[in-house]
Amino acid sequence: MPDPTLDTTAPAKIILFGEHAVVYGEPAIAVPVASLQASAAIQPSEDGFKIIAHDLDAAIVRYDPQLIKEPLQRTLTLLQQHTGQSLPDVEIHLRSTIPMASGLGSGAAISTALARAVSAAMESPLSNETLNGIIFEVEKIHHGTPSGIDNTVIVYEQPIYYVRNQPIERLKIEQHFKLIIGDTGKKALTHVAVGDVRKLMEAQPEQTQQRISAIGEIATAARVAIEHGHIADLGQLMHENHRLLKELTVSSSDLNRFVEAALEAGAIGAKMSGGGRGGNMIALVDERHSQAVMQALRDAGAVNLIETIVC
Ligand code: MEV
Repeated sequence: MPDPTLDTTAPAKIILFGEHAVVYGEPAIAVPVASLQASAAIQPSEDGFKIIAHDLDAAIVRYDPQLIKEPLQRTLTLLQQHTGQSLPDVEIHLRSTIPMASGLGSGAAISTALARAVSAAMESPLSNETLNGIIFEVEKIHHGTPSGIDNTVIVYEQPIYYVRNQPIERLKIEQHFKLIIGDTGKKALTHVAVGDVRKLMEAQPEQTQQRISAIGEIATAARVAIEHGHIADLGQLMHENHRLLKELTVSSSDLNRFVEAALEAGAIGAKMSGGGRGGNMIALVDERHSQAVMQALRDAGAVNLIETIVC
């Protein structure tokens, strides 16, 4: 039995550049958001394996392998397949401070914390590589055709430059920078937005491919700027990336209003982040304008604001 005082955790994530285009093989950049976490605590159980989901009114979840479309169940099934062990007699207390269905990776983080806890209780801790493969399979329930960026940044807990089916590249942050994450409060399903981009690709292949490729070039340029500490260069790149995402129809009136409000209040750059149509946007700020940008986003209707330092 592992030390019950030690919770396993996994952070939220945010995509800085390249969402949607990453599904088509273009590069993207994502970072963990350590101030938001999913966690799992293990305790002995007298009546077999169970999960207590504290954010779902302490609902008790028992293992049922028939529920193949349910992410926690799928995580448990894959875990048993990988370890060759059955579930131990423990209760797992799951908690999360990550808002759900808002592009911050709450589902992947909860599954990651759960898999870490159960594999520790089995005394078969998983490598990040194996865990990443499991969480990628679970992500398919939510997203259909995920690129793999969300599970990768969450499992490895480090800034990444990500290209689908390529080895993971850690992004070097030459100079730290501050982001404000503004939540529209509108839940949005990533697979719907991803599906609509696919329809656009079928209906207008040339124009859509050009936009996807242009987003890939922006992500590449952003990597160079971040690795050289040229933070001011990111503003224009965020602006361009947001414009292209708008053209791919995945932004929303709330997201556009938040982006404009942040820029008017002095943000260096701003764009939507993640699947879009709701969820979150990000504003890059310096200390001098941070409070004004927060206030402008509040006035524009943001239901939640998170400050995070990328380092
Ligand atoms: C969702 O967080 C990011 C998307 O690019 C989808 C994906 O990469 O799987 C929209």
